[in-house]
Amino acid sequence: MDKVREGEYIILWGGPDANFITKYKPGKPIHSHRGVFNLPENLEWGDILVSSKGRKFYVIKPSNADFVLRLKRKTNIFYPKDMGIVLLYTDFKPHSKVIEAGSGSGAMAVILSNLLVRPGRLFSYDNNPTHQRVAKENVQNFGKPENVIFRLRDVYVCGFIERDVDIVIVDLPEPWRVVKHAYKSLKYGGFLVFASPNIEQVKETRKCMYETGFVAMRTVEVLMRDWQIRDVGCRPEHEMRGHTLFYSFGRKAKHP
Ligand SMILES: C[S@@+](CC[C@H](N)C(=O)[O-])C[C@H]1O[C@@H](n2cnc3c(N)ncnc32)[C@H](O)[C@@H]1O
Repeated sequence: MDKVREGEYIILWGGPDANFITKYKPGKPIHSHRGVFNLPENLEWGDILVSSKGRKFYVIKPSNADFVLRLKRKTNIFYPKDMGIVLLYTDFKPHSKVIEAGSGSGAMAVILSNLLVRPGRLFSYDNNPTHQRVAKENVQNFGKPENVIFRLRDVYVCGFIERDVDIVIVDLPEPWRVVKHAYKSLKYGGFLVFASPNIEQVKETRKCMYETGFVAMRTVEVLMRDWQIRDVGCRPEHEMRGHTLFYSFGRKAKHP
């Protein structure tokens, strides 16, 4: 049987109205509005624990998406629905060499660090030491810090150190200001993706990308709606996150 190791994160799933992430420690008391119980010795994945109020809690392993919305936040972050598209449309692989600007709260850095395998690496830039400290803490807590190198610098002015990278991910207020730097750092065929809250930024940055030598550009917005599935009256949830960010992609080509 697959045992849970002390210090590993677990989800205690007692239904949509009662689920928690916590670190496993034998004897740790769990208090919830659905009753109280202690985490036992020799916990195994899939175990069922019963609270003082008779509610069953299933012990399951958190996924990357489970972590994202629980991170400590200092900035806006990428949401799981958008991260999936970023990974697929940049042809991310475990051995990819990736630059990201800025680190923000480290949401994307946590996910990338968990997916990367050496020689794959993430180089994460930010010019705000407070933001980067939180990003580092989140990667330390929920990711694999050995796969991330954090760099503190103003990327508009100083650009990036690395060359021959596969992917540059940009989440900055003025993305057009790093297009030339990204071009220098990418290998031919490499991907630049930038996130923008409004379409004026998208137009300006795409124009700059076109003039710099990027091709095969596309811009997408991901709309996701959860559904309630029940015996009678299945329907979409009333609430959804209407707009997060536009994501625009392009590939480095040679100048004609
Ligand atoms: C919205 S956050 C990035 C969030 C990140 N994508 C995440 O998933 O957590 C934008 C970050 O860009 C940083 N930033 C803004 N201007 C910058 C610059 N010139 N150089 C480096 N970082 C910059 C900010 O300090 C901020 O932390």
